[in-house]
Amino acid sequence: MITDESVERVREGADIVQIIGEHVKLRRSGNSYRGPCPFHQGTGPNFSVVPAKGLYHCFVCKESGDVFTYLQKRLGMDFPDAIRYVANKAGIVIEEVQRSAEAVDPRQPIWDLNSMVADWFRTQLWDERTGESARNYLALRRVSREVADRFGLGFAPRDLDAMRNHLVALGVSEETLLAAGLLVRRDDGDALRPRFRDRLMFPIVDASGHHVAFGGRLLGPGDPKYLNSSESPVFTKGRVLYGLHMAKHAIRREGRVMIVEGYFDVVRVVSAGFEWVVAPLGTALTEEQAAMLPRYAKQAFLLYDHDEPGLKATFKSGDLLLREKMSVQVVTLPEGEDPDSFVDKFGGEKLGEQLSGAVDIFERKLNELSRNGYFAELHRKRVAIDKLLPTLRATADSVTRDIYIARASELSGVTREALEREVSQMSPRASTVQSGRPPAPPHPDDRDIRREPERRPRRARPPHKERQLVRILLHVRSNIDQAIETVGPDQLHDPALQDIYRALLEGSAGDPTEVVASRLPSESTELFNELLADPIGEGEEVPETFAELLAHFRRMAVKKELHETQREMPIATPDQQDELLSKMARLRNEKNAMGDRSFKGYGPARPT
Ligand code: CTP
Ligand code: MN
Repeated sequence: MITDESVERVREGADIVQIIGEHVKLRRSGNSYRGPCPFHQGTGPNFSVVPAKGLYHCFVCKESGDVFTYLQKRLGMDFPDAIRYVANKAGIVIEEVQRSAEAVDPRQPIWDLNSMVADWFRTQLWDERTGESARNYLALRRVSREVADRFGLGFAPRDLDAMRNHLVALGVSEETLLAAGLLVRRDDGDALRPRFRDRLMFPIVDASGHHVAFGGRLLGPGDPKYLNSSESPVFTKGRVLYGLHMAKHAIRREGRVMIVEGYFDVVRVVSAGFEWVVAPLGTALTEEQAAMLPRYAKQAFLLYDHDEPGLKATFKSGDLLLREKMSVQVVTLPEGEDPDSFVDKFGGEKLGEQLSGAVDIFERKLNELSRNGYFAELHRKRVAIDKLLPTLRATADSVTRDIYIARASELSGVTREALEREVSQMSPRASTVQSGRPPAPPHPDDRDIRREPERRPRRARPPHKERQLVRILLHVRSNIDQAIETVGPDQLHDPALQDIYRALLEGSAGDPTEVVASRLPSESTELFNELLADPIGEGEEVPETFAELLAHFRRMAVKKELHETQREMPIATPDQQDELLSKMARLRNEKNAMGDRSFKGYGPARPT
């Protein structure tokens, strides 16, 4: 840590005219110096440096500050670096103090070890014989030696002992190697083996420059394509951005950061001259990662895949960045290209063009909704607004939010006042009628964006009435026609029951069980067999129960429709509101006619 006293001495001793004069042609003019402004790339002498005050100021773009802010903004240095730089120029010796002796971080040994191992991997890559296959792979992907060295790329050989022997000889214990996740114990005994074998290695360095982990890519096809170090006290993948350590100065200098999906994207984009790029580590951007960025820049460019999961990840990341008051732009590369393949095919200049054509994230979202016809009619408009609300609520910058609301109003025809009211209302998620939904899987941020197929949450016990309905239909197929009329498959919240219900509706009532079963996805066969093994019992009064069930589902459907209609009211035009009111009256009547009992339908009252 540099002492405050040193900072002041450096500020006083700094020759601001000389330091800025290295980049800007300055001419004396009275007590100040004038020149073209380097911040807005001006040409007239609007940029003024006042040595007596130690300050600079541009009369056009209003940039101003002292010698340290100049170096930070112009050259992307961080504050301590700027101080050291000036001190060096001015010949001032600065005092730096260790924060305190015991403050040595307990993670230091693992960081050191990872750094040693990164060196070793690098040696393997450039070893004539050992690294040949990996070097061929790099050549195939057109990564030069220079670029590889810049990222410290290495190679983890197939050999089971080489790394361990090397490190043990240097005094590293096997326990430490295990703790760092570099060795793993095999299931079948106590043999230790390297976690990474036959992979191209990307050292992962955190923003402060600590070697926290590795990512390893297979040299050919296979699974898993990428393997990361396991999570450990030094490594939480949701808290690290690949490339940030190297990119941070450029990001600060540019005032913007490009966010791509993978290691190779970062490597390729940097080697094409765009140094202000980072990537999350195989997951969608997390809150913590988003929170790291505004320190360096106010503008983010998202370059995700073109496919649907890519678009979903884009919007999700966008909301997190808007929450950080960043401005968020989306670049949509041609179908099938990621930044790596795009630059490889078309070159960096074309990437520059793509960046200039970037679209604001909210505009992109509006486009997407509009393209899919969401603003065409009231019911879908309500859905569209619901999709926009989280983004509007996330937008922490009030000016940006006002602009967004104005645009949404323009496109949807819903008044700004109505939208503002919706935005300021609490998120309705908690109060909707969707209580029967299976719970969301834990930590959605931790899930691979598209590596793992969208996995269903572990099956909870399906809602009793849904199960009853499907079970009866399975055993008494003659009821199916009647069910179709009343119960839409979407009304069943349990995914497996929904599958079975659909499979029953699809065919005809006489289909043998095996045929019905053959229409099921494998996840749903377990429940199917369970229902099959639970036949209609002797005393069960099927017609009665069935009628009650239908009444129940009908009541639910009416309630849902009523709720949806109510929610359309605030965004409807006066004409539409009239229609909605009569529709609501009709639905209320129907609801009242059915009674508000929870599980008693039209059927005759049960004898007690
Ligand atoms: N990833 C991962 N685990 C996998 C696959 C991918 O952690 N099994 C992460 C990696 O960080 C990878 C990123 O997700 O860089 C993007 O993956 P993907 O788009 O599948 O691969 P590319 O980056 O295009 O990799 P490549 O070009 O090497 O095929
Ligand atoms: Mn790729």
